[in-house]
Amino acid sequence: MRVLVTGGAGFIGSNFLLESVPSRGDCHFINVDSLSYAANIRNLDAIASAPNYEFHRLDLRDRDETRRVVERAAPDIVVHFAAESHVDRSILGPAAFIESNIVGTFHLLEAVRAQKQGDILFHHVSTDEVYGSLGPTGYFVETTPYDPSSPYSASKAASDHLVRAYHRTYGLRARLTNCSNNYGPYQFPEKLIPLMIKNALANQPLPVYGKGDNVRDWLYVSDHVSAIWAVIERGRDGETYNVGGNNESTNLALVERLCRAVAHATGRSEADVLGLITFVKDRPGHDHRYAIDAEKIRRECGWSPAETPETGLARTVGWYLENQTWVESITSGEYKKWLELNYSERTGS
Ligand code: DAU
Repeated sequence: MRVLVTGGAGFIGSNFLLESVPSRGDCHFINVDSLSYAANIRNLDAIASAPNYEFHRLDLRDRDETRRVVERAAPDIVVHFAAESHVDRSILGPAAFIESNIVGTFHLLEAVRAQKQGDILFHHVSTDEVYGSLGPTGYFVETTPYDPSSPYSASKAASDHLVRAYHRTYGLRARLTNCSNNYGPYQFPEKLIPLMIKNALANQPLPVYGKGDNVRDWLYVSDHVSAIWAVIERGRDGETYNVGGNNESTNLALVERLCRAVAHATGRSEADVLGLITFVKDRPGHDHRYAIDAEKIRRECGWSPAETPETGLARTVGWYLENQTWVESITSGEYKKWLELNYSERTGS
């Protein structure tokens, strides 16, 4: 089985490959990634010389090259992770999101269509943010109408629609997963959890947007990886599966929990770390609550998360503590400019 993975040097893609390459000797993995700011090829050092793995640098915005690479890869399965994924960046600069997430997905779909596409399984990795925002009750189900709030979620919604259209129009064997917030090793420290761990370790302010009462449903990244495989192996073509951890938390409660975990791991006092929490100006169009009903993937594919919030968060804090050189190596000049751009205007809400 030849598996073409797009965006395999990003957070979720790296975890997918690091877990799948060693354990699935019957699959040959072809990883294509443009290696943009949030990707890091060094994440994949452990599998770089595995006989069932190869890497090619590819920017999906390049239509002709995408077609050539897909033709050479001759995949049986495509797992499409590649995307611009940070909501705040999409607010400050939407163009990259339209180009990568919509046009890039279109180029990939066209490249697959040009092959023996009747046989290729196209697994599209997407987000629960396409459904918009929930009130205090209720859950997103697969039939919840799309109602995206940010340029990021609108671009992912558009890419989902394209994938479904290729299924209906051209018979592409497509499956989609829409997943809640992931956390775990190798997540770029612009996202809430790694940013808070990094800042807490450096004794820097922990910027909580608004009142910190927005709610997210958190899933450890390995559970997302197992959900994707469950859908590849036991899902149905043309279907969408919501993936979530049934692990809702307000942002403030989560950050407080992280503070306690960092205090515990470093021997500092909890009060010292909790004292770093700083309320800052809210994100425009900030979705209030996400919550996933994952009953369909449980029932049809027999999937359930293995990690509990306690074990997942402890593993994650431990990983960032042990891998501070990784954090330093990726937090380059570009990263510092981003922090300046995103946070300088938020201070003192
Ligand atoms: O729900 C799935 C989505 O989760 C993915 O599709 C996105 O790619 C991923 O970025 C994530 O989106 P969020 O906007 O929910 O994640 P983020 O880590 O940026 O923020 C999580 C929550 O924390 C959100 O309510 C905003 C808040 N936040 C975030 C940052 C970066 C803060 O309060 N302070 C911060 O500095």
